[in-house]
Amino acid sequence: MLQMRNSCFSSSLLIIILLFFIIRPGFANGLCIKDQESALLKMKLRFNFNANFSSKLVTWNSTTDCCAWSGVTCDNGGQVIAIDLSYEGVSGAMNSSSSLFDLQHLRSLNLAANNFNSSEITPAFGKLVNVVHLNLSTSGFSLQIPIEIAHLTKLLALDLSTVGSSGVLKLENPNFTLFVQNLTVLEELHLGGVNISYKGSELFRAVARSLLKLKVLSLPNCFLSGPTDWSYLLRLKSLS
Ligand SMILES: *[C@@H]1O[C@H](CO)[C@@H](O)[C@H](O)[C@H]1NC(C)=O
Ligand SMILES: *[C@@H]1O[C@H](CO)[C@@H](O)[C@H](O)[C@H]1NC(C)=O
Ligand SMILES: *[C@@H]1O[C@H](CO)[C@@H](O)[C@H](O)[C@H]1NC(C)=O
Ligand SMILES: *[C@@H]1O[C@H](CO)[C@@H](O)[C@H](O)[C@H]1NC(C)=O
Ligand SMILES: *[C@@H]1O[C@H](CO)[C@@H](O)[C@H](O)[C@H]1NC(C)=O
Ligand SMILES: *[C@@H]1O[C@H](CO)[C@@H](O)[C@H](O)[C@H]1NC(C)=O
Ligand SMILES: *[C@@H]1O[C@H](CO)[C@@H](O)[C@H](O)[C@H]1NC(C)=O
Ligand SMILES: *[C@@H]1O[C@H](CO)[C@@H](O)[C@H](O)[C@H]1NC(C)=O
Repeated sequence: MLQMRNSCFSSSLLIIILLFFIIRPGFANGLCIKDQESALLKMKLRFNFNANFSSKLVTWNSTTDCCAWSGVTCDNGGQVIAIDLSYEGVSGAMNSSSSLFDLQHLRSLNLAANNFNSSEITPAFGKLVNVVHLNLSTSGFSLQIPIEIAHLTKLLALDLSTVGSSGVLKLENPNFTLFVQNLTVLEELHLGGVNISYKGSELFRAVARSLLKLKVLSLPNCFLSGPTDWSYLLRLKSLS
């Protein structure tokens, strides 16, 4: 009898301990996985950033759990799933050897409002195949947007608008039609300031063919010309 009560007691204790590990809060220590931390620190080391403008990067160091770093979000397994380094005063070019591209679990990446010094958007962004939110707006990228971005077919929101920044991005080869061809689940597309140089009707034809889930489309200063056939937009039931 006593033994039974004991085993009952110890199994409920076990369940409580198990529950603790399953529902542990996001800020728990020891969540950070070593390879994720080292990728983040390597990325930080490569970035030129002005410590006077940085509120997030400047605090990243291994005395604290990387999942608790400002601008970093992990899943329950300690994999980095979101990075927000907008307005961090990062400057200089970023190339394919950045350890950012080792963070294969990333679902959300915001590098908006930095200054990547008129460098190209590296094709390595195409490695982040799980990304659903990508925001590189006003971050000083320039030249042709690489086709690899168009391979990120899980994207729900893409913001590459350059309005107000030094870089001039363009969609020439691939052009807009090819670029959006497989971005079929996209709900938000912001390309303000990107040189698309299309006729309005060509643009809407491409949108109506591929982007049927679109809710938000923002294309100021994209070098579009008339005529525009608005009837294509009637196919976009979600557009607000
Ligand atoms: C940061 O601010 C300090 C104090 O205002 C200044 O001396 C320093 O030059 C600034 N650093 C940069 C990189 O702008
Ligand atoms: C490391 O990070 C902590 C908390 O973010 C901060 O208080 C500390 O000053 C940092 N240390 C260094 C050497 O940057
Ligand atoms: C930005 O690019 C210019 C010209 O390509 C170069 O001279 C300058 O050193 C670069 N700045 C940084 C911080 O990489
Ligand atoms: C990438 O940039 C770093 C400096 O940030 C440089 O040391 C490295 O050689 C570059 N790699 C490639 C492949 O261009
Ligand atoms: C991208 O980031 C900038 C700066 O944080 C923000 O203003 C903009 O709304 C973001 N874009 C999207 C589509 O969320
Ligand atoms: C876009 O590019 C494709 C492939 O290069 C081409 O067939 C198509 O005519 C172009 N569309 C426009 C509107 O320029
Ligand atoms: C879109 O997907 C099709 C089928 O997988 C592929 O043949 C085509 O090259 C893709 N287009 C782009 C722009 O990635
Ligand atoms: C935009 O691109 C077109 C061709 O793709 C080019 O003729 C034009 O000069 C570009 N405009 C700007 C402002 O870069």
